[in-house]
Amino acid sequence: MKVAFLGTGLMGQPMAQRLLAANIPVIAYNRTPEKLEPLKAAGAEIAAKPYQAIRAADCVILMLTNAAAIYSVLLSDRSSGSVTGRSIIQMSTITPTESKEIQDAVVAAGGEYIEAPVLGSIPEAKAGELILMVGAYREQYQRHLDLLKNFGPEPVLVGKVGTATALKLAMNQLIASMTTAFALSFGFVQRQGIDIELFMQILRDSALYAPIFDNKLSRMVDGNYTNPNFPIKYMLKDTDFFIEEAKSADLNVRSIEGVKQILEMAMKMSLEYADYSSIFAAIQAGDR
Ligand SMILES: NC(=O)c1ccc[n+]([C@@H]2O[C@H](COP(=O)([O-])OP(=O)(O)OC[C@H]3O[C@@H](n4cnc5c(N)ncnc54)[C@H](OP(=O)(O)O)[C@@H]3O)[C@@H](O)[C@H]2O)c1
Repeated sequence: MKVAFLGTGLMGQPMAQRLLAANIPVIAYNRTPEKLEPLKAAGAEIAAKPYQAIRAADCVILMLTNAAAIYSVLLSDRSSGSVTGRSIIQMSTITPTESKEIQDAVVAAGGEYIEAPVLGSIPEAKAGELILMVGAYREQYQRHLDLLKNFGPEPVLVGKVGTATALKLAMNQLIASMTTAFALSFGFVQRQGIDIELFMQILRDSALYAPIFDNKLSRMVDGNYTNPNFPIKYMLKDTDFFIEEAKSADLNVRSIEGVKQILEMAMKMSLEYADYSSIFAAIQAGDR
Protein backbone atom coordinates (compact mmCIF):
# COMPACT_ATOMS: atom_id res chain seq x y z
CA MET A 1 0.00 0.00 0.00
CA LYS A 2 1.28 3.46 -0.92
CA VAL A 3 0.13 6.56 0.98
CA ALA A 4 -0.18 10.04 -0.50
CA PHE A 5 0.47 12.64 2.19
CA LEU A 6 -0.93 16.06 1.30
CA GLY A 7 0.17 18.89 3.58
CA THR A 8 3.56 18.56 5.24
CA GLY A 9 3.49 21.54 7.60
CA LEU A 10 4.16 21.50 11.35
CA MET A 11 2.03 18.39 11.93
CA GLY A 12 2.09 16.70 8.51
CA GLN A 13 5.86 16.54 8.36
CA PRO A 14 6.43 14.44 11.52
CA MET A 15 3.35 12.33 10.76
CA ALA A 16 4.63 11.46 7.28
CA GLN A 17 8.01 10.68 8.85
CA ARG A 18 6.28 8.13 11.09
CA LEU A 19 4.99 6.28 8.01
CA LEU A 20 8.44 6.25 6.39
CA ALA A 21 9.98 4.97 9.63
CA ALA A 22 7.47 2.08 9.49
CA ASN A 23 8.57 1.31 5.88
CA ILE A 24 5.27 2.45 4.40
CA PRO A 25 5.87 3.98 0.95
CA VAL A 26 4.89 7.66 0.94
CA ILE A 27 4.38 10.10 -1.92
CA ALA A 28 4.18 13.61 -0.49
CA TYR A 29 2.86 16.91 -1.79
CA ASN A 30 3.12 20.36 -0.23
CA ARG A 31 2.21 23.73 -1.73
CA THR A 32 5.57 25.12 -0.63
CA PRO A 33 7.98 22.50 -2.04
CA GLU A 34 10.94 23.46 0.20
CA LYS A 35 9.13 21.90 3.17
CA LEU A 36 9.33 18.51 1.43
CA GLU A 37 13.13 18.30 1.58
CA PRO A 38 13.37 16.41 4.92
CA LEU A 39 10.82 13.86 3.70
CA LYS A 40 12.68 13.42 0.43
CA ALA A 41 15.87 12.83 2.41
CA ALA A 42 14.00 10.20 4.47
CA GLY A 43 12.95 8.32 1.33
CA ALA A 44 9.58 9.81 0.33
CA GLU A 45 8.65 10.19 -3.30
CA ILE A 46 7.78 13.82 -4.06
CA ALA A 47 4.87 14.95 -6.24
CA ALA A 48 4.92 18.34 -7.96
CA LYS A 49 1.10 18.42 -8.16
CA PRO A 50 -1.48 17.01 -5.74
CA TYR A 51 -3.25 14.90 -8.39
CA GLN A 52 0.05 13.14 -9.18
CA ALA A 53 0.31 12.06 -5.53
CA ILE A 54 -3.37 11.03 -5.37
CA ARG A 55 -3.10 8.96 -8.57
CA ALA A 56 0.04 7.18 -7.40
CA ALA A 57 -1.43 6.06 -4.05
CA ASP A 58 -4.19 3.83 -2.62
CA CYS A 59 -4.80 6.00 0.39
CA VAL A 60 -4.60 9.79 0.75
CA ILE A 61 -3.94 11.53 4.09
CA LEU A 62 -4.81 15.22 4.42
CA MET A 63 -3.14 17.46 7.04
CA LEU A 64 -3.97 20.93 5.76
CA THR A 65 -4.93 24.28 7.27
CA ASN A 66 -8.65 24.32 6.55
CA ALA A 67 -11.45 23.27 4.19
CA ALA A 68 -10.42 25.82 1.54
CA ALA A 69 -7.00 24.17 1.35
CA ILE A 70 -8.65 20.72 1.16
CA TYR A 71 -10.87 21.79 -1.75
CA SER A 72 -7.91 23.30 -3.56
CA VAL A 73 -5.68 20.22 -3.11
CA LEU A 74 -8.20 17.37 -3.28
CA LEU A 75 -11.22 18.56 -5.17
CA SER A 76 -9.97 20.95 -7.85
CA ASP A 77 -10.96 19.94 -11.42
CA ARG A 78 -7.66 18.17 -11.96
CA SER A 79 -7.55 16.37 -8.58
CA SER A 80 -11.17 15.24 -8.17
CA GLY A 81 -10.88 12.86 -11.13
CA SER A 82 -7.98 11.16 -9.33
CA VAL A 83 -10.01 10.49 -6.19
CA THR A 84 -11.94 7.59 -7.78
CA GLY A 85 -11.16 4.36 -5.95
CA ARG A 86 -9.01 6.12 -3.32
CA SER A 87 -9.48 6.15 0.46
CA ILE A 88 -9.30 9.69 1.79
CA ILE A 89 -8.33 10.11 5.44
CA GLN A 90 -8.97 13.71 6.53
CA MET A 91 -6.95 14.64 9.66
CA SER A 92 -7.00 18.48 9.61
CA THR A 93 -9.20 20.46 12.03
CA ILE A 94 -12.28 21.64 10.15
CA THR A 95 -16.00 21.82 11.07
CA PRO A 96 -18.34 18.81 11.09
CA THR A 97 -20.45 20.55 8.43
CA GLU A 98 -17.40 20.95 6.17
CA SER A 99 -16.30 17.36 6.81
CA LYS A 100 -19.69 16.01 5.71
CA GLU A 101 -19.64 18.24 2.60
CA ILE A 102 -16.18 17.00 1.67
CA GLN A 103 -17.34 13.41 2.27
CA ASP A 104 -20.23 13.97 -0.17
CA ALA A 105 -17.86 15.40 -2.80
CA VAL A 106 -15.38 12.52 -2.38
CA VAL A 107 -18.10 9.87 -2.56
CA ALA A 108 -19.59 11.60 -5.65
CA ALA A 109 -16.12 11.40 -7.23
CA GLY A 110 -16.03 7.64 -6.56
CA GLY A 111 -13.78 7.62 -3.49
CA GLU A 112 -14.32 6.77 0.18
CA TYR A 113 -13.87 9.26 3.03
CA ILE A 114 -13.14 8.96 6.71
CA GLU A 115 -12.15 11.66 9.21
CA ALA A 116 -9.49 11.25 11.88
CA PRO A 117 -8.73 14.62 13.54
CA VAL A 118 -6.04 14.58 16.23
CA LEU A 119 -5.49 15.83 19.75
CA GLY A 120 -1.86 16.54 20.66
CA SER A 121 0.80 18.57 18.96
CA ILE A 122 4.25 18.29 17.37
CA PRO A 123 5.94 16.29 20.18
CA GLU A 124 3.07 13.76 20.16
CA ALA A 125 3.12 13.64 16.33
CA LYS A 126 6.86 12.85 16.40
CA ALA A 127 6.40 10.14 19.04
CA GLY A 128 3.31 8.56 17.44
CA GLU A 129 1.31 9.46 20.54
CA LEU A 130 -1.50 11.56 19.12
CA ILE A 131 -5.06 10.90 20.23
CA LEU A 132 -7.00 10.04 17.08
CA MET A 133 -10.77 10.46 16.95
CA VAL A 134 -12.22 8.61 13.98
CA GLY A 135 -15.46 9.32 12.13
CA ALA A 136 -16.21 6.35 9.88
CA TYR A 137 -18.24 3.17 9.51
CA ARG A 138 -16.86 0.41 11.75
CA GLU A 139 -15.68 -1.60 8.77
CA GLN A 140 -13.75 1.42 7.40
CA TYR A 141 -12.26 2.07 10.83
CA GLN A 142 -11.08 -1.52 11.16
CA ARG A 143 -9.65 -1.56 7.63
CA HIS A 144 -7.58 1.59 8.30
CA LEU A 145 -6.69 0.91 11.94
CA ASP A 146 -3.16 -0.42 11.35
CA LEU A 147 -2.30 2.65 9.29
CA LEU A 148 -3.80 5.04 11.85
CA LYS A 149 -1.88 3.37 14.68
CA ASN A 150 1.31 4.87 13.22
CA PHE A 151 0.11 8.23 14.55
CA GLY A 152 -1.38 7.23 17.89
CA PRO A 153 -1.61 3.99 19.84
CA GLU A 154 -5.37 3.74 20.21
CA PRO A 155 -7.44 5.51 17.55
CA VAL A 156 -11.00 5.81 18.89
CA LEU A 157 -14.04 5.23 16.69
CA VAL A 158 -16.44 8.05 17.63
CA GLY A 159 -19.24 7.48 15.12
CA LYS A 160 -20.14 8.50 11.60
CA VAL A 161 -18.36 11.29 9.69
CA GLY A 162 -18.88 14.61 11.50
CA THR A 163 -18.91 13.21 15.03
CA ALA A 164 -15.13 12.93 15.42
CA THR A 165 -14.64 16.43 14.00
CA ALA A 166 -17.24 17.78 16.44
CA LEU A 167 -15.45 16.05 19.33
CA LYS A 168 -12.14 17.58 18.24
CA LEU A 169 -13.71 21.07 18.30
CA ALA A 170 -15.11 20.37 21.78
CA MET A 171 -11.57 19.51 22.95
CA ASN A 172 -10.08 22.65 21.41
CA GLN A 173 -12.76 24.78 23.07
CA LEU A 174 -11.43 23.40 26.36
CA ILE A 175 -7.80 24.13 25.42
CA ALA A 176 -8.64 27.76 24.55
CA SER A 177 -10.89 28.33 27.57
CA MET A 178 -8.64 26.63 30.13
CA THR A 179 -5.50 28.39 28.92
CA THR A 180 -7.28 31.75 29.04
CA ALA A 181 -8.70 31.07 32.50
CA PHE A 182 -5.26 30.03 33.79
CA ALA A 183 -3.54 33.06 32.19
CA LEU A 184 -6.01 35.44 33.89
CA SER A 185 -5.56 33.92 37.36
CA PHE A 186 -1.79 33.81 36.84
CA GLY A 187 -1.70 37.47 35.77
CA PHE A 188 -3.87 38.46 38.73
CA VAL A 189 -1.69 36.60 41.24
CA GLN A 190 1.45 38.21 39.75
CA ARG A 191 0.00 41.73 39.94
CA GLN A 192 -1.04 41.14 43.57
CA GLY A 193 2.59 40.33 44.37
CA ILE A 194 1.81 36.76 45.44
CA ASP A 195 4.54 34.14 45.10
CA ILE A 196 3.96 32.22 41.84
CA GLU A 197 5.34 28.96 43.23
CA LEU A 198 2.87 29.17 46.12
CA PHE A 199 0.03 29.75 43.66
CA MET A 200 1.12 26.74 41.60
CA GLN A 201 1.60 24.56 44.68
CA ILE A 202 -1.95 25.20 45.90
CA LEU A 203 -3.32 24.77 42.37
CA ARG A 204 -1.46 21.48 41.87
CA ASP A 205 -2.88 20.12 45.14
CA SER A 206 -6.42 21.12 44.24
CA ALA A 207 -9.19 19.60 42.13
CA LEU A 208 -8.79 22.57 39.76
CA TYR A 209 -5.43 21.45 38.44
CA ALA A 210 -4.89 20.43 34.81
CA PRO A 211 -1.50 19.43 33.31
CA ILE A 212 -1.87 22.07 30.58
CA PHE A 213 -1.21 24.72 33.28
CA ASP A 214 2.30 23.43 34.01
CA ASN A 215 2.89 22.78 30.28
CA LYS A 216 2.40 26.48 29.54
CA LEU A 217 3.74 27.98 32.79
CA SER A 218 7.40 28.44 31.82
CA ARG A 219 6.49 30.08 28.49
CA MET A 220 4.24 32.53 30.34
CA VAL A 221 6.83 33.23 33.07
CA ASP A 222 9.56 33.87 30.46
CA GLY A 223 7.28 35.57 27.90
CA ASN A 224 8.75 33.11 25.39
CA TYR A 225 6.22 32.28 22.70
CA THR A 226 8.65 31.33 19.90
CA ASN A 227 8.79 27.94 18.08
CA PRO A 228 5.05 27.36 18.47
CA ASN A 229 3.51 23.91 18.54
CA PHE A 230 0.10 25.42 17.95
CA PRO A 231 -0.07 29.09 16.91
CA ILE A 232 -2.63 31.71 17.97
CA LYS A 233 -4.05 31.97 14.42
CA TYR A 234 -5.05 28.28 14.49
CA MET A 235 -6.53 28.56 17.96
CA LEU A 236 -8.63 31.47 16.69
CA LYS A 237 -9.65 29.42 13.62
CA ASP A 238 -10.78 26.51 15.79
CA THR A 239 -12.53 28.86 18.25
CA ASP A 240 -14.48 30.38 15.36
CA PHE A 241 -15.38 26.87 14.15
CA PHE A 242 -16.59 25.92 17.61
CA ILE A 243 -18.69 29.08 18.03
CA GLU A 244 -20.31 28.56 14.62
CA GLU A 245 -21.22 24.95 15.33
CA ALA A 246 -22.26 25.51 18.97
CA LYS A 247 -24.55 28.38 17.94
CA SER A 248 -26.18 26.06 15.41
CA ALA A 249 -26.66 23.60 18.28
CA ASP A 250 -28.46 26.41 20.18
CA LEU A 251 -25.92 26.68 23.02
CA ASN A 252 -24.93 29.84 24.93
CA VAL A 253 -21.47 30.65 23.58
CA ARG A 254 -20.71 33.88 25.48
CA SER A 255 -17.80 32.45 27.49
CA ILE A 256 -15.91 31.28 24.39
CA GLU A 257 -16.78 34.55 22.61
CA GLY A 258 -14.84 36.32 25.41
CA VAL A 259 -11.90 33.99 24.75
CA LYS A 260 -12.18 34.81 21.05
CA GLN A 261 -11.82 38.55 21.81
CA ILE A 262 -8.60 37.83 23.72
CA LEU A 263 -7.28 35.76 20.79
CA GLU A 264 -8.14 38.65 18.44
CA MET A 265 -6.24 41.00 20.74
CA ALA A 266 -3.21 38.66 20.47
CA MET A 267 -3.54 38.78 16.67
CA LYS A 268 -3.50 42.61 16.83
CA MET A 269 -0.33 42.38 18.92
CA SER A 270 1.29 40.52 15.94
CA LEU A 271 1.27 37.24 17.86
CA GLU A 272 -0.56 35.25 15.15
CA TYR A 273 2.42 32.94 14.64
CA ALA A 274 3.31 32.78 18.35
CA ASP A 275 2.49 29.81 20.59
CA TYR A 276 -1.03 29.98 21.97
CA SER A 277 0.33 30.49 25.49
CA SER A 278 0.82 34.11 24.29
CA ILE A 279 -2.83 34.50 25.28
CA PHE A 280 -1.07 35.59 28.49
CA ALA A 281 0.51 38.58 26.69
CA ALA A 282 -2.96 39.71 25.58
CA ILE A 283 -4.23 39.32 29.17
CA GLN A 284 -1.28 41.37 30.46
CA ALA A 285 -2.07 44.11 27.92
CA GLY A 286 -5.20 45.00 29.91
CA ASP A 287 -8.79 45.52 28.89
CA ARG A 288 -8.37 47.97 26.03
N1 LIG B 1 -0.08 22.32 15.22
C1 LIG B 1 -0.82 21.62 16.07
O1 LIG B 1 -0.49 21.49 17.26
C2 LIG B 1 -2.10 20.96 15.62
C3 LIG B 1 -2.65 19.98 16.46
C4 LIG B 1 -3.81 19.33 16.07
C5 LIG B 1 -4.41 19.69 14.86
N2 LIG B 1 -3.86 20.67 14.08
C6 LIG B 1 -4.56 21.00 12.83
O2 LIG B 1 -3.87 20.33 11.78
C7 LIG B 1 -3.91 21.11 10.58
C8 LIG B 1 -2.49 21.41 10.13
O3 LIG B 1 -1.83 22.12 11.17
P1 LIG B 1 -0.27 22.46 11.13
O4 LIG B 1 0.06 22.91 12.51
O5 LIG B 1 0.51 21.37 10.50
O6 LIG B 1 -0.29 23.75 10.17
P2 LIG B 1 0.78 24.33 9.13
O7 LIG B 1 2.16 24.06 9.59
O8 LIG B 1 0.37 25.74 8.90
O9 LIG B 1 0.50 23.48 7.82
C9 LIG B 1 -0.63 23.71 7.03
C10 LIG B 1 -0.50 22.98 5.73
O10 LIG B 1 -1.61 23.34 4.87
C11 LIG B 1 -1.08 23.80 3.62
N3 LIG B 1 -1.97 24.78 3.01
C12 LIG B 1 -2.57 25.84 3.59
N4 LIG B 1 -3.36 26.50 2.72
C13 LIG B 1 -3.24 25.85 1.54
C14 LIG B 1 -3.82 26.03 0.27
N5 LIG B 1 -4.69 27.03 0.02
N6 LIG B 1 -3.49 25.17 -0.72
C15 LIG B 1 -2.62 24.15 -0.47
N7 LIG B 1 -2.05 23.91 0.72
C16 LIG B 1 -2.37 24.75 1.72
C17 LIG B 1 0.27 24.39 3.98
O11 LIG B 1 1.06 24.53 2.83
P3 LIG B 1 2.32 25.57 2.84
O12 LIG B 1 3.43 24.85 3.52
O13 LIG B 1 2.55 25.86 1.41
O14 LIG B 1 1.87 26.80 3.61
C18 LIG B 1 0.77 23.33 4.96
O15 LIG B 1 1.19 22.17 4.29
C19 LIG B 1 -4.73 22.36 10.92
O16 LIG B 1 -6.08 22.12 10.58
C20 LIG B 1 -4.59 22.46 12.44
O17 LIG B 1 -5.67 23.15 13.03
C21 LIG B 1 -2.71 21.30 14.42
